[in-house]
Amino acid sequence: MKVLLTGGAGFIGSHTFVELIKDGYTPIIVDNLYNSSERVLERLEKISGVKPIFYKIDVCDKKAFRAVFKEHDISSVIHFAGYKAVGESVNIPLAYYRNNIDSTLSLCELMKEFGVVQLVFSSSATVYANNTQMPLTEDMPTGATNPYGWTKYMIEQILQDFCAADPELSVALLRYFNPVGAHESGLIGESPRGIPNNLMPYITQVANGKLERLSVFGNDYPTPDGTGVRDYLHVCDLAAAHAAACKYISQHKGCEIFNIGTGKGYSVLDLVKTFETVNQVKIPYAIVDRRPGDIAECYADPSRAKNQLHWEAKFGIQEMCRDAWNWQQKNPEGLL
Ligand code: UD1
Repeated sequence: MKVLLTGGAGFIGSHTFVELIKDGYTPIIVDNLYNSSERVLERLEKISGVKPIFYKIDVCDKKAFRAVFKEHDISSVIHFAGYKAVGESVNIPLAYYRNNIDSTLSLCELMKEFGVVQLVFSSSATVYANNTQMPLTEDMPTGATNPYGWTKYMIEQILQDFCAADPELSVALLRYFNPVGAHESGLIGESPRGIPNNLMPYITQVANGKLERLSVFGNDYPTPDGTGVRDYLHVCDLAAAHAAACKYISQHKGCEIFNIGTGKGYSVLDLVKTFETVNQVKIPYAIVDRRPGDIAECYADPSRAKNQLHWEAKFGIQEMCRDAWNWQQKNPEGLL
């Protein structure tokens, strides 16, 4: 069965490719390489033994994208493609709305045109916006605090409406918590452009000396050690959740939302200390002011995914720290 992966050369898409191969699917990668590299393709072949079917196409380019639908009998789509930097989205909001919404609309129109009825979408825990009650469940109110978050919120709404209008459609909206780590081979992983915004890639670049020290954004939150608490999730577990969602949508019509997290919260200092212990490296850090827009804690109630997708996270933060560092050491410059 052919599964189309928009943004399939990226961090989460590439790991999902590997999982889909294991489950007997034929993934087809469509990616404009804006935030990824063609070099990931040979790595995927090394890991999986399968040469990826790849198209360098922008999903917003409907004409070029249509050719892929024409050429392949696609059974389902996983839609990863999108801009994802929170800070950047505040500075160039129109680019975020144009790219993330446009690509989704093109995709949905083509699915309709070619009778493709199964879709998995990369949403984010960012849609829980200002909820302070933890753990987060899928029925809690949603919103956003920045343009990136609003694009996820809006796309969720678009897909719910798309689904409501067509009883044949099956859609899974996956709300990711904080994906980190890398494939155990060290061949694929996260390659942030420039100075990383997210915690784990920042830590790995401090560990290898590229960055001098980590700034810990605030230690006066109402959390056990005062630093922010998040639900870190191994990217290979997240990839497996996509494979489980593909199976689920082949058996269930309608639109369903799933939290994809471990259900456990760890603080910034928990992550730093675990990284140091597991990898035997020192992470110099300094406590600085809170980062605007950050919340004290954010972790999932993943029970719906467990009950309905029969998926749950297998890896702990030790493995996340080990694999993130293994990837960084083997690819000091990433793959971009
Ligand atoms: C961020 C985004 C979220 C997005 C997710 C993608 C914000 C406000 N949220 O989540 O919308 O879906 O990335 O992975 O940007 N931290 C430090 N020092 C650093 C970097 C981070 O102390 O240099 C702390 C943060 O304050 C936070 C934790 O580490 O407590 C995790 O931060 P980060 O990795 O950026 O993820 P989120 O902010 O949770």
